[in-house]
Amino acid sequence: MEKTLSIIKPDAVKKNVIGKIIDRFESNGLRIAAMKKVQLSQSDAQEFYAIHKSRPFFNDLVTFMVSGPVVVMVLEGLNAVAKNRELMGATNPKEAAAGTIRADFAESIDANAVHGSDSLENAEKEIKFFFAEREIC
Ligand code: CMP
Repeated sequence: MEKTLSIIKPDAVKKNVIGKIIDRFESNGLRIAAMKKVQLSQSDAQEFYAIHKSRPFFNDLVTFMVSGPVVVMVLEGLNAVAKNRELMGATNPKEAAAGTIRADFAESIDANAVHGSDSLENAEKEIKFFFAEREIC
């Protein structure tokens, strides 16, 4: 069993497709162990994405992530990190396989509907960033 962090980004929240995205996870063997809707501050987004600080897209990424509320979740299941990434599809929705979340709900590489941890190590850090131990059931 693994745990991973998923974020439903502001574009997908604005489109009112939170339930449709959650259904992809639950229908594919992932369980929601924690969930909340939050409005990130500028400093929250900068800290969460600090790994991308030197990338040219960093400022646009932070601006986008604070443009509206997000839904953050801990997903739990067998190989949850890889399973979540498979369900999300490629970072750029134009390259995402048919039937993936990003192919079906995302518009662009910035507004790409969801974030998912890219490794077990980062999943642990990202989960701790958003959730206290008692919020994870
Ligand atoms: P995410 O999985 O949330 O991780 C970092 C985000 O940066 C990524 O999804 C994209 O939304 C965004 N991004 C914008 N441009 C790029 C790029 N060229 N390469 C990777 N990520 C990018």
